[in-house]
Amino acid sequence: MRREFLPYYRPLLESHEMEAVLESMRGGWLTTGPRVHEFETSFAAGSGVAHAVAVNSGTAALHLSLAAWGIGPGDEVVMPAFTFVAGAQCARHVGARPVFADIDPKTLCITAETVKRVMTARVKAIMPMQYGGQPLAIADLMEFAGQAGLRVIEDAAHAAGTLDQNGRWAGVMSHAAAYSFYATKNMTCGEGGMFVTNDGDLAERVRVLALHGMDRDAWRRYTQGGKWRYDVVSTGYKYNLSDTAASLGIHQLKRLASMQRRREELARLYISELKDVAGIAPLTLPPPLPAKHSFCIFAVGIDEQAAGVSRDEVIERLNQANIGTSVHFIPTHLFSSFSHAAQAPLPVTDRVWKTIVSLPLYPAMSDEDVMDVTGALRDIVVRAHPADAVSSVPK
Ligand SMILES: Cc1ncc(COP(=O)(O)O)c(C=O)c1O
Repeated sequence: MRREFLPYYRPLLESHEMEAVLESMRGGWLTTGPRVHEFETSFAAGSGVAHAVAVNSGTAALHLSLAAWGIGPGDEVVMPAFTFVAGAQCARHVGARPVFADIDPKTLCITAETVKRVMTARVKAIMPMQYGGQPLAIADLMEFAGQAGLRVIEDAAHAAGTLDQNGRWAGVMSHAAAYSFYATKNMTCGEGGMFVTNDGDLAERVRVLALHGMDRDAWRRYTQGGKWRYDVVSTGYKYNLSDTAASLGIHQLKRLASMQRRREELARLYISELKDVAGIAPLTLPPPLPAKHSFCIFAVGIDEQAAGVSRDEVIERLNQANIGTSVHFIPTHLFSSFSHAAQAPLPVTDRVWKTIVSLPLYPAMSDEDVMDVTGALRDIVVRAHPADAVSSVPK
């Protein structure tokens, strides 16, 4: 058994990144300013999406897109229930109703087919999500959205490092995408997010909504030559990113490709080591190139019959073996705050979530850490089958 606890997540920050944060603080400008503008420019260039607006969370980016499109009371937004609750709450923030579509059992993402099943005349937008970083069938979704006159905002919280079937970042094919730089994401600012779109007018509306509806941010007012007067042109929110956070984001973006290489190595090691573990199957698998999985989450499914233990027991025993795990996700329609809403059946979501466990996977992990996890899983399954274990001892 491991001596030290292996946490589900631990960030790997390099000293030059910490130095960049200090440097930005020494510069005397803490709120939205030159570092945020640099981060936006480099994110737009890196993603291949024309416009990037930095905000203080992925949730803020989702909320702003719905607000900027004027989605509101009486409208519906289709999204997976098998995701984090942020998107559903954002639909509620603007007075709209979240409607849940089922997931494809292979990709664990919603598809044009599952969206069609819950369509009504009230649906105004679709909010698909790359589950754990799994590339979406975005071309099909965009074709359907085009026919039905719907907007598509990708909840790209897990998608820094994901490339779609054409080798493109989230936000290139759709109307907009919302990235999250929350602490456990593939690149982080601690807290932060990025709204990206190829629509210049939409980007400008989001920029204004993100700062109280003001037409000019502080950097453009307080710096030498800046103009003090500003107008408030609409209702707005306080969602701007700080320069302190952006200075970390700039360096995380530069390191994203190398961090992704390490994530992929670790994922491949998990996949090969889990081959002989009965009843525990990786659900996170590398897609054919040029698509790429971001390996933001490494999920396995527990087949209770074959493994001899339930998902909950596996989590408990890994914990006893000093290994942290997580579950992504408790589906949104099962939360008490959402359970009263009428809902179409979600058979795949309801079946899959009961079997799923997320294993630790992050660049700060060593190969030995992965072997500890797979060794512990093998042990759990062998102990659950004492008869097989005895019969497998050579005579
Ligand atoms: C799928 C998904 N969407 C949205 C979010 C919200 O991102 P943030 O925490 O940056 O607001 C998260 C965060 O964990 C997420 O996992």
